[in-house]
Amino acid sequence: MNLLVTGGAGFIGSHVVRRLVTNYPEYTIYNLDKLTYAGNLENLKDVDQLPNYNFIKGDIVQEDFINDLFERINFDGVIHLAAESHVDRSIEDPLAFVRTNIIGTVNLLNAAKKSWSGKFSRKRFYHVSTDEVYGSLGKEGLFTEETSYDPNSPYSASKASSDHFVRAYGETYNLPFVISNCSNNYGPYHFPEKLIPLFINNIIENKALPVYGDGKYTRDWLFVEDHARAIDLIFHKGKDRETYNIGGFNEWQNIDLIKLLCKVMDRKLNRNEEESEKLITYVKDRPGHDLRYAINATKINEELGWKPSVTFEEGLEKTVDWYLNNSEWLKHVTSGDYKEYYSKMYS
Ligand code: NAD
Ligand code: DAU
Repeated sequence: MNLLVTGGAGFIGSHVVRRLVTNYPEYTIYNLDKLTYAGNLENLKDVDQLPNYNFIKGDIVQEDFINDLFERINFDGVIHLAAESHVDRSIEDPLAFVRTNIIGTVNLLNAAKKSWSGKFSRKRFYHVSTDEVYGSLGKEGLFTEETSYDPNSPYSASKASSDHFVRAYGETYNLPFVISNCSNNYGPYHFPEKLIPLFINNIIENKALPVYGDGKYTRDWLFVEDHARAIDLIFHKGKDRETYNIGGFNEWQNIDLIKLLCKVMDRKLNRNEEESEKLITYVKDRPGHDLRYAINATKINEELGWKPSVTFEEGLEKTVDWYLNNSEWLKHVTSGDYKEYYSKMYS
């Protein structure tokens, strides 16, 4: 099987690629990535020598390049993760999200449709999406696969649009697809613009911890390796044209999560109790900030037998250990452009 993974040098993509090249030596895995600020080949250096791994540097927005790629290689499946993924950046530059998340996805759909030219048996286009397409929950309720789309940020609007295109290609051209919508991931190789790795890095550096608004926003956190396992399962066993919600059964208000993280960091760094908590600084809220996300993952649990394998406490401990043991990686990704980004967003 020739399998194209897009965005495989990013956070979740690198865990997916690692899992696939290791567990399926009989597959040939092609990792297509533009290597934006979020893409980093260091994320895969433990597996990049494996004979079934290939890296292709390229941009999914470049239509000719994508068509040419699908002409050169007969892909049996696509697992599409490449995206602009950070909500705060989408508020600054929505068009970048339109280009990659919408136009890039449609380019891939067109290329797959053309290359597979109606011979769809044993082909599959797997689109990796987010729970943010459903908008915000109030204090009660959970997102199910039937929840109406109601995106609130340019990021989630672009992901919602790409989901609609994937479904439309299924209806209109019979393209075999599957979509998953997952909650917040955390774990190793997470770029430190997102809450957990940003705060780990700031605690290490004794910098302020910028909590948006009152900190009472809620997210449902999932360890990234559990997401990669769900993607593997859905790609191989999920039903055609279905959506699967993936979540951690693990809701945390930001401020409670941050206080737990501070405690873990104090312990690991041999600092006095509550030393890191003193860094907590309430800052201006994110515009259009969604109050709460929480997933009902019953469908994937009942149909495919998936459930998270790592508790939040275990996952957070593993994550903190990884960042403390990989200070070179952290130093590398926080040099250069990151400093500019940080001062623009947080000054
Ligand atoms: P990420 O930002 O860490 O990685 C994105 C990757 O895509 C990077 O390697 C980047 O170089 C690549 N990329 C960006 N633009 C590209 C382009 N035009 N052409 C080719 N490659 C390009 O993102 P992530 O957090 O790993 O998320 C991966 C996917 O999972 C995204 O589609 C995202 O919407 C979805 N998702 C993320 C989360 C989460 O909590 N991080 C949760 C649910 C769903
Ligand atoms: O729900 C899935 C989504 O989770 C993915 O689709 C996105 O790609 C991913 O980035 C993530 O989106 P969030 O906006 O929920 O993640 P983020 O880490 O940016 O923020 C988590 C919460 O923490 C959110 O309520 C905003 C808050 N926050 C974030 C940052 C970066 C802060 O309070 N301060 C910060 O500095």
